[in-house]
Amino acid sequence: MQNKTYNMTVFGCQMNERDAETLRGFLDEMGYCETENREQADLVIMNTCAVRQKAEEKVFGLIGRLGRLKEINPDMVIAICGCMVQQEAVAKRIKKQYPFVDLIFGTHNIAVFPELLKKAEESAEPVLDLRDEGGEVAEGLPVARRDHVKAWVNITYGCNNFCSYCIVPYVRGREKSRLPADILAEVKGLVAGGFKEVTLLGQNVSSYGRELAEPVDFASLLQRVDRETGIARVRFMTSHPRDFTRELAETIALGKSICEHVHLPIQSGSNHILDLMNRGYTREHYLELVKMLRSMVPGCTLTTDLIVGFPGETEEDFKATLDLVAEVGFDSAFTFLYSPRKGTPAATLPGQVPRSVKKERFNRLLEVQNRWSLERNRAMVGRVEEVLVEGPSKTRKEVMTGRTRGNKTVNFTGENVKPGDLVPVEITGARTWSLVGRVEA
Ligand code: SAH
Ligand code: SF4
Ligand code: F3S
Repeated sequence: MQNKTYNMTVFGCQMNERDAETLRGFLDEMGYCETENREQADLVIMNTCAVRQKAEEKVFGLIGRLGRLKEINPDMVIAICGCMVQQEAVAKRIKKQYPFVDLIFGTHNIAVFPELLKKAEESAEPVLDLRDEGGEVAEGLPVARRDHVKAWVNITYGCNNFCSYCIVPYVRGREKSRLPADILAEVKGLVAGGFKEVTLLGQNVSSYGRELAEPVDFASLLQRVDRETGIARVRFMTSHPRDFTRELAETIALGKSICEHVHLPIQSGSNHILDLMNRGYTREHYLELVKMLRSMVPGCTLTTDLIVGFPGETEEDFKATLDLVAEVGFDSAFTFLYSPRKGTPAATLPGQVPRSVKKERFNRLLEVQNRWSLERNRAMVGRVEEVLVEGPSKTRKEVMTGRTRGNKTVNFTGENVKPGDLVPVEITGARTWSLVGRVEA
């Protein structure tokens, strides 16, 4: 018999990408093959994201299209999972509005995916399985990584911060840390498998380990990954300004494999808005952190996330953000229009900002940030950077692409380089989003 096929679409952040690797691991074990051809797949999975309205709308649109595919291919099994359906109202809406969906499951039951899939295949009725968060962190689940150079490694799940705009704590549950021994064993396994880089993942890595029976902190975990595993490069995402410590900066400075890049979301430059966002720090504290980081880790790249049009944001508040962006000079930034999320405190705050104002502020912010991105990249020209080779570039196969330790993309030329190599590349040109270079002879 021919293998069954599946097609999977993943939305959202690296957490979802990493969960998708576990689903792929289960599917490999069940003898499924992945296919690009959604129309003819036996199983179609959507791993969804709820962080902004737009992400959800995209998924609803796609589910509608799946209904038409199923008319042609009635044996197709359709599964929707991830953060979006962890919201009960959304799960119910899908069940009602799209009765052809066979399986809906949330973020806390990935470990039982094979059973759920079997149930859905055997049952005439749609299967809906949402759970409240379980007790222990599940270890030992299968994982099928498609990349063989870089890997994501979870260190925490969930979030306790409850930023007032954010849905993540509701759909991912409370923060839970994996044990250091499990993390170290996973990284060692990756090294043995030829991986060169790991990114330690958590919504807020800087609060890692606090709730463990034997508490540990993130800096000490990072030191152990650096010293004990033999991995060439370590990154981490995301650190929160609230609990970013001097010790962590020192760890980055001293760790041989720890890349000199910090993604430190500021969200807004206005103290009033930061307070309404429940971020737990001020603009001044953030600027102090930047100063500390730059003095302790010379050349460290700094990236951030920014939200414009948070409820109550005045032109003055927005200018404070523009100001801060110009003062820090980030290497790059993800910028978002505030999107009200049902069930979060900010969604019902007074002073919701009209879309036209949000858009206008967004464009102004982007203009300032793009200038800085280019400026920061230009400053790299003439330098020689260690680049981890990823593969041929998307547009020209004679050009290779890779990343610097600071996480900048470089498109470069050179003889005899292959994915996974660490090569010295002389930077010869700068664009807003990437660098150009050639392997140093
Ligand atoms: N845990 C990470 C980020 C997770 S979500 C952190 O705290 O940094 C990624 C980014 O999406 C956030 O940093 C924020 O900038 C943005 N975001 C989250 N909720 C949003 C919302 N309701 N509207 C617009 N942007 C949002
Ligand atoms: Fe959301 Fe804030 Fe938690 Fe990040 S730290 S996931 S923005 S609640
Ligand atoms: Fe990530 Fe979106 Fe969920 S950002 S944690 S996939 S809501």
